[in-house]
Amino acid sequence: METTLVLIKPGGVSRNLIGEICRRIEARGLQITGLELIRAKRETVEAHYGEHKGKGFYEDVVNYLLSGPIVALAVSGENAVKAIRAMMGATNPIDATPGTVRGDLALSIEDNLVHSSSDVEAAKFELGLWFPAGPIRS
Ligand code: CMP
Repeated sequence: METTLVLIKPGGVSRNLIGEICRRIEARGLQITGLELIRAKRETVEAHYGEHKGKGFYEDVVNYLLSGPIVALAVSGENAVKAIRAMMGATNPIDATPGTVRGDLALSIEDNLVHSSSDVEAAKFELGLWFPAGPIRS
């Protein structure tokens, strides 16, 4: 049993794709165990994308995530990290296989609709960042 993080980026929220993305996750047999609509803080986004600091797209991707509301999801299930990565498709939607979220719903790497944790360690770090009080707020 694993839990991973999915972010639905501002483009996914503004295109009314929250339901479609959650539907696909649930239809696969994974469980949404945390869900929050957020206007992200810069410090959270910078920490989230810390590994990309210094790369050409870093400022743009940080500003993009700050440009509108996003949805943070904790998703749990057997092999959830790998299952979600495969369902989301390649980072660049132009390389993403049809049937994946990006392959069906996105066209550009700048607006690739979703982020998902790359491995179990990243998932642990990212879940702590986006759900500091745990996935269910009390
Ligand atoms: P994500 O999975 O959220 O991780 C880093 C994000 O940076 C990536 O998805 C893209 O949205 C964005 N990005 C923009 N340009 C690039 C690029 N050349 N390579 C990787 N990621 C990029």
